[in-house]
Amino acid sequence: MEYVMKKDEFIISDDQDKIDSNYVHSFLTASYWSPGVPLQTVKKAMEGSLSFGVYLSGHTETQVGYARMVTDKATFAWLADVFIDESYRGKGLGKWLVLSILAHPDVQGLRRILLATKDAHKLYEQAGFTALNNPERFMVYNPTGYKSK
Ligand SMILES: CC(C)(COP(=O)(O)OP(=O)(O)OC[C@H]1O[C@@H](n2cnc3c(N)ncnc32)[C@H](O)[C@@H]1OP(=O)(O)O)[C@@H](O)C(=O)NCCC(=O)NCCS
Repeated sequence: MEYVMKKDEFIISDDQDKIDSNYVHSFLTASYWSPGVPLQTVKKAMEGSLSFGVYLSGHTETQVGYARMVTDKATFAWLADVFIDESYRGKGLGKWLVLSILAHPDVQGLRRILLATKDAHKLYEQAGFTALNNPERFMVYNPTGYKSK
């Protein structure tokens, strides 16, 4: 069943079929975290995640934001690729998107939700995220598969 949140003229939905993958790709391929990411990689990641679109409702729905959760739906999730179209920023949509994702039925009762950000800590803090309290326990492996620019 589709998960839908509504606020003013905006809608958040987890319906994969509504997502404009070309729009999402055009943002992500120019972003600081995935410059040059191929469209096929974006589509595959989208299909393997719980993906959320933010839409301006009206005559037709126009996509104005996106984010996805990579999750086993039981213990762990990784929040990724969060963005709001530049012309719709500063209206609370980013915060609403993060809170709506955290309220999704598939990510309840998990042990840990992680994310990485360069400068949007304040946004995620408002949703309850904190810095790692034991960063020495975490490691990262950087495979040589998909390479961005
Ligand atoms: C980050 C982003 C999604 C926030 O969306 P938004 O709709 O403008 O955010 P909101 O209006 O809901 O802001 C919520 C709060 O987060 C803060 N915030 C938003 N973006 C921030 C940023 N980049 N750095 C620090 N704080 C930020 C706002 O100041 C606001 O705090 P306030 O309520 O105390 O004023 C949006 O700026 C964006 O798409 N940026 C480019 C992509 C990006 O950097 N994504 C995050 C990757 S981790």
